Amino acid sequence: MSVRLPRKRLEILLSQLKGFPHPSPSMEQYEVTDSVAATMVFTAATYGDIENRCVYDLGCGPGRLAIGAALLGAREVVGVDIDSKVLNVAEQNAVQVGVQEQIEFVTQDIGTLTAKADTVLMNAPFGVQRVHADQPFLQKALEISKVTYSLHKASEGGRQFITKFVSELGGRISFVQELSMTLPATMHFHEKKRHTIQVDFYRIEKEEKNE
Ligand SMILES: C[S@@+](CC[C@H](N)C(=O)[O-])C[C@H]1O[C@@H](n2cnc3c(N)ncnc32)[C@H](O)[C@@H]1O
Repeated sequence: MSVRLPRKRLEILLSQLKGFPHPSPSMEQYEVTDSVAATMVFTAATYGDIENRCVYDLGCGPGRLAIGAALLGAREVVGVDIDSKVLNVAEQNAVQVGVQEQIEFVTQDIGTLTAKADTVLMNAPFGVQRVHADQPFLQKALEISKVTYSLHKASEGGRQFITKFVSELGGRISFVQELSMTLPATMHFHEKKRHTIQVDFYRIEKEEKNE
């Protein structure tokens, strides 16, 4: 493993980035916390999936995962989001930490994306507003990449569903780890200042086809 930054430093840099300017409930615009983002990117780096790799962040929002990958030495990073306004923020965030040359932010519906990546990192909509909104993201990730690191809402039923869905897509889960995220109130219907949710962090490998 060759990691340029200590984890604590990465977390501090990620915590200083700007968030969603106008978070939309229907697009489930919740931001990954700096601690979980650092765990995702560091874990991927430990597996050799970041340094010198081409990394895509699907549904990148303000770009924490994409920027984390660039800070840990990704050769090339592409952040894709349907919301152009949040990508303006992501671009400013990349400039703030000096990784703008490594990252391109693209306004696009991931459904129409054609690409070839070494690694996908994503914190996609969980499907709380629109059931199974995470499915097209998983589909696209396995279509374009050999390895995917993905966050989903934690639940036993959810794990069973994702295991089956990933297997149907020709993938295999190498691990799943439950993590906590404490999110600030960002939507008009949030009553508490903060709430903690449980999330499942997956590493998924695309099975090699024997042709
Ligand atoms: C849960 S947020 C996560 C944002 C960011 N990855 C993070 O963790 O901070 C999901 C993101 O997916 C984006 N999104 C939703 N549907 C999309 C689609 N069809 N194509 C591209 N992006 C989409 C939203 O705009 C939002 O930024």
